[in-house]
Amino acid sequence: MCEEMRHHWLLLGACGWVLLILMFVSKFISFRAVDDYGERLGGQSWTMPGTKGVKPVPVSRTENPVQRPSDQPPVGPTVAEWELVADRRIKLLSTVCENSSLRNLTHISINKFVLDRIFVCDKHKILFCQTPKVGNTQWKKVLIVLNGAFSTVEEIPENLVHDHEKNGLPRLSSFMPQEITHRLNTYFKFLIVRDPFERLISAFKDKFVKNPRFEPWYKHDIAPAIIRKYRKSHRNNDLTASGLHFEDFVRYLGDAEGRRRMDRQFGEHVIHWVTYAELCAPCEIRYSVVGHHETLEQDAPYILKAAGIDQLVSYPAIPPGITRYNRTKVEHYFSGISKRDIRRLYARYQGDFHLFGYPEPDFLLN
Ligand SMILES: *[C@@H]1O[C@H](CO)[C@@H](O)[C@H](O)[C@H]1NC(C)=O
Ligand SMILES: *[C@@H]1O[C@H](CO)[C@@H](O)[C@H](O)[C@H]1NC(C)=O
Ligand SMILES: *[C@@H]1O[C@H](CO)[C@@H](O)[C@H](O)[C@H]1NC(C)=O
Repeated sequence: MCEEMRHHWLLLGACGWVLLILMFVSKFISFRAVDDYGERLGGQSWTMPGTKGVKPVPVSRTENPVQRPSDQPPVGPTVAEWELVADRRIKLLSTVCENSSLRNLTHISINKFVLDRIFVCDKHKILFCQTPKVGNTQWKKVLIVLNGAFSTVEEIPENLVHDHEKNGLPRLSSFMPQEITHRLNTYFKFLIVRDPFERLISAFKDKFVKNPRFEPWYKHDIAPAIIRKYRKSHRNNDLTASGLHFEDFVRYLGDAEGRRRMDRQFGEHVIHWVTYAELCAPCEIRYSVVGHHETLEQDAPYILKAAGIDQLVSYPAIPPGITRYNRTKVEHYFSGISKRDIRRLYARYQGDFHLFGYPEPDFLLN
């Protein structure tokens, strides 16, 4: 009797610990998932296949999932209508790739850096090129589940999402040359982009302003290096105290030649601000679909359908308006920065603007 009681209490204690750990882990997961959008999203949830049809599986238990009931008719264009938009984007992409005056900015060889950005789902023959600050962690989780290493998004430990040795979502660079060519030629390939300047603002905010308990190197190594080289006036002793200003960041980004050596030192961290062309080589790799963050509500279901996985997964409801381009925000960040610096920045990123059909931000340039 006594032995049994002791057993009970031990079990109860163990359960308590497990619960505490789960609560901690789920907090962490929701922080990372929200963080990935670069904006605050309400709640996010994933719908994964259940045995009895489609069943919602929330990413985090700590938030109320904001979800559109599945029986409510979809708003906006249908998936079939969206195909026209998607086709137009691919046509524009190949037209701009032909434009010789943009060649330097658009043609990037398929090097190791690019192959490192592309994730492979062999089971469903999908390649996904990662473009940070555009909701990529969510897509990676979907592909990890599709690859079969985990059966739901929830089960993926957060520290495994970006550990491609262990999460069953290999990088294309881990394959042999002929295996790489085969996959590039035959698989469904996609990437997601957003307005290039809004992306830079998002990267700046996320890496240098809010930042990151988990990524101290942005504030402690990268920011001081940029300030030293690009701030107009500074006293050496308050470099880290004042922090990186958006103006310093813009001057660094616009300096095509000067930043080359720094970028080598920064290593992989530059993925948060190098051009989409440098990340994904869109003129060398014939992508099947280019999704836009601004129209993610239409693009996400379209991509799932085009990739042939719409019966297996669905994208979570996206709170209305959250992904929309915010001109006020862009104007706010660029106010006080000289036209000359903004034009240099645009000169360097105009390849991305043209390739993906984003209008020239003339309200900033003129
Ligand atoms: C090529 O790009 C340049 C720079 O944006 C543009 O001025 C020009 O019109 C483009 N040419 C064609 C043929 O689209
Ligand atoms: C393209 O690159 C070449 C060689 O690096 C350079 O001479 C040329 O000025 C560049 N053209 C443009 C339009 O940037
Ligand atoms: C746009 O950005 C501004 C400034 O950051 C913010 O005050 C405003 O709420 C944003 N608008 C929308 C629709 O998100």
